[in-house]
Amino acid sequence: MRTVNVDLGRATYPIDIGPGLLGDGGTLGRRVPGADLLVLSNETIAPLYLARVKAGLRDRRVGECILPDGERYKTLATASRVFDALVEQRFNRDATLIALGGGVVGDVGGFAAACYQRGIRFVQIPTTLLAQVDSSVGGKTGVNHPGGKNLIGAFHQPVAVVADTDCLGTLADRELRAGLAEVVKYGCSADAALFEWLERAVPRLIAREPAMLVEAIARSCEIKAAIVARDEREDGVRAILNFGHTFGHAIEAATGYERYLHGEAVAIGMAIAADLSARIGLVAGSVPQRLRALLSAAGLALEAPRFGAARARALIGMDKKVRGGTVRLVLLAGLGAAELRSDVGDDELTRTLEEHFG
Ligand SMILES: NC(=O)c1ccc[n+]([C@@H]2O[C@H](COP(=O)([O-])OP(=O)(O)OC[C@H]3O[C@@H](n4cnc5c(N)ncnc54)[C@H](O)[C@@H]3O)[C@@H](O)[C@H]2O)c1
Ligand SMILES: [Zn+2]
Repeated sequence: MRTVNVDLGRATYPIDIGPGLLGDGGTLGRRVPGADLLVLSNETIAPLYLARVKAGLRDRRVGECILPDGERYKTLATASRVFDALVEQRFNRDATLIALGGGVVGDVGGFAAACYQRGIRFVQIPTTLLAQVDSSVGGKTGVNHPGGKNLIGAFHQPVAVVADTDCLGTLADRELRAGLAEVVKYGCSADAALFEWLERAVPRLIAREPAMLVEAIARSCEIKAAIVARDEREDGVRAILNFGHTFGHAIEAATGYERYLHGEAVAIGMAIAADLSARIGLVAGSVPQRLRALLSAAGLALEAPRFGAARARALIGMDKKVRGGTVRLVLLAGLGAAELRSDVGDDELTRTLEEHFG
C-alpha cells in the first residue's frame, strides 16, 4: 500500500492506495472517524462493494443512502435526498459521510457533507480510476444546474481518501481508459518522468496489472496533492491541472455531454493544446507526437468532432475575450511543464481550431 498526504496544515489528510483496503482488516476502519456513519453510493456500486465497506466498519452505526446511477442525478434534488437521509436517520454534527463511488457520488457526497449542519466530516472511497486519481482529491464538491456543469458547489476537503485498487476490477474498459487520460495529463503537464514511465507502462496498465495501477494512482495523487497544497482554491498554479480541459469541455458541451466520457474529451483536448503549443513555438513538434502516441496506446481516439471552428471558439469563451486581450490557455512550455499563457496569437488559435474542428 502507498499513502500520499495532502498537506493543508490543520486539514491535512491521507490518501491510501492499494488492494484490500476496504474489508475487515483493511485501512478503512482506521481512517474513518466517528461512530455514526452514512455511506452514500449508487445502485451499480453498492451491490459490488457496500458489504465489503461495512465489514471494514464493524461496531459503528452505518446508515445508507443509495442513489440512482448517472451524471444526470448530480443535482440539487439528489443532494436534497442525501439531506433527507441524514435527517431521517437522525445523524447529527458528529456524523461522517462516506462517498463510495465514482466522481458523481463523490461530488454530490462532498457537497452534502459541506452543507449538512454547516459541515460534517467526509471520507472518499473512490471506485473509478478517474475518481482515484482526480475527483476524490482536492476538496472540490458540487452538483450540476440546468444552466451548466458544477455551477453549485463548495470547497470541502475529505478527512481521508481510501482508494482500493481492487474496485477497478469491475470497471468498464472505456471508463478505465478515460481515467488513464487524466493520468497522462499529470505526466504531460507536471512530471516528464511520469510521462516517460507511462510510455513504457501503458500496456500493463490497460491489462490492469495491480502494481502498475497502484504506481500510476500514487504518482498522480502526489502531483495533485502538491499542487492543491500550494493552491487550495485554484487562484493560481492549480490551473495547470486543467491542461486539455478548455478544449475538452468545449467538446463535451457541443456533444451534449453524452457522446464522450470526460476523459475521452480531455484526451482530444490535450492533443489540440499540445498542437497549439508547438504551433506557437513553445515546444518541438515531437512533443505533440509523443502525446498522441501515448494516448492512442491507451486506447483513446483523438479525432475531434467537426462542429466548426466558430462554434469551438464560442465554446472556449474566446469569441469576445480575444479582442479584449485576455486569452488564457494552459499550454505546454515543455514535456511536464504546463503553463497558463495569455499570449496566444489569434491567427495561430484560428488555424488550430480550423484544423481540428473544421
Ligand atoms: N471534484 C473534482 O475535483 C472533480 C474532478 C474531476 C471530475 N469530477 C466529476 O466526476 C464526475 C465523473 O466521475 P467518474 O468518471 O468517476 O464517473 P461516474 O461517477 O459517473 O462513474 C462512471 C460509471 O462507472 C460506474 N462505476 C463506478 N465505480 C465502478 C466500479 N468499481 N465498478 C463498476 N462500475 C463502477 C458508475 O456507477 C458509473 O456508471 C463528473 O461529474 C465530474 O464533474 C470532479
Ligand atoms: Zn478532468
